[in-house]
Amino acid sequence: MTRLLDAPDALTALPNAGKGLIDAIERSGLVGRGGAWFPVATKWRAVAERSHGQAVVVVNGAEGEPQSKKDRLLMTTRPHLVLDGAFLAARVLRAARIVLYIGERHDVARNAMLRALAQRTEPERRIVTVSAAPSRYVAGAETAAIHLINEGIATPTTAPPYPFERGVGGAPTLVQNVETLAHVALIARTGQAPHTVLVTLAGALKQPGVLEVEKGTTVAEAVRRSGGFTEPPRAVLVGGYFGTWVETQRALDLELDHGSMRRHDLGLGCGVIGVLPTSRSPVRETAGIMRYLAQESSAQCGPCFFGLRALADTCTRIAEGTSKPEDLKRLQRWAAEVRGRGACRHPDGAVIFLSSALDLFASEFANDSAYALRRTA
Ligand SMILES: Cc1cc2nc3c(=O)[nH]c(=O)nc-3n(C[C@H](O)[C@H](O)[C@H](O)COP(=O)(O)O)c2cc1C
Ligand code: SF4
Repeated sequence: MTRLLDAPDALTALPNAGKGLIDAIERSGLVGRGGAWFPVATKWRAVAERSHGQAVVVVNGAEGEPQSKKDRLLMTTRPHLVLDGAFLAARVLRAARIVLYIGERHDVARNAMLRALAQRTEPERRIVTVSAAPSRYVAGAETAAIHLINEGIATPTTAPPYPFERGVGGAPTLVQNVETLAHVALIARTGQAPHTVLVTLAGALKQPGVLEVEKGTTVAEAVRRSGGFTEPPRAVLVGGYFGTWVETQRALDLELDHGSMRRHDLGLGCGVIGVLPTSRSPVRETAGIMRYLAQESSAQCGPCFFGLRALADTCTRIAEGTSKPEDLKRLQRWAAEVRGRGACRHPDGAVIFLSSALDLFASEFANDSAYALRRTA
């Protein structure tokens, strides 16, 4: 059985790995754990065939999602496992450089990674540099990481060229989440497919925090292991701020596994499961998250910057009982207009989240809008 958080983190010789590791990764079905769940082997092949000894591996430990804690925990407690994944990637892709891209506020995690790095061999250490990811939501996006490393600005850029074509220093670049790389290390050590997922349980729970669960574990079981609810739940936000509000019973029955989520037309995103209690207004909660996401836009694309701000302002008016008659309809129309119109997935993630709120909390949104109309009548 291969579990990340039980794996020994002692420094051992890296297993021999060549192109065969890409085949092993493919057979294992490993997909990225940073949010998009993209097949890892496909990405490695794209970089490998362009590398010519120049490729760069970026270890994405930005963890910009406010409720997520799993990447920090992994870097803090299993830094060698993450480094092993990065060095294996560098070896297989014939990369010239590795950049550890770690959130600027994640001091404990960064120090653990630096301590582990200091124990590696000199040729290994020589190819590694460290960059601090600013504490902004979009700084974790792969093109933002590359932009920061190249020019010191952590804003996303348009693709193409894609990172695998031209990234850090113009070289083919692999950007991979820290959990993904740790799974690669375990695949190389054991030959087994990863059968666990790191999730962060947040919100109205007695013991919120990170759990490593077997794929297929239900949300109900994860909630049980988190000590149960602190108060009756109203809904569950599955997948973090780019995720989906799901009705509680339906959420409890869901299995924590990418494939299973997909079958329900949902995404596990960065693995955050957030419980909203009945004592909190879902409209206010949604408005708060929308304000945050609007504020985190990098202000480079009009539909994202102006669109998210308009959506957040409208949600806030409804939540505060000061909305105008047409506000609710506007929310639905504008959400559709913003989608797909940014250089990165930020606006898409925000409107997926908002649309799920408008569906699940339709009566609350309608009530709060009607309340405003009664007040102004
Ligand atoms: C707005 C935005 C923020 C993101 N933040 C992170 C992050 O903090 N950490 C992360 O690993 N991936 C983040 N991603 C996903 C990365 O762009 C990229 O897909 C990921 O690092 C690739 O690694 P993976 O395939 O191992 O998941 C973000 C994407 C977007 C659009
Ligand atoms: S879509 Fe938004 S966050 Fe992404 S690059 Fe454009 S303005 Fe920045």
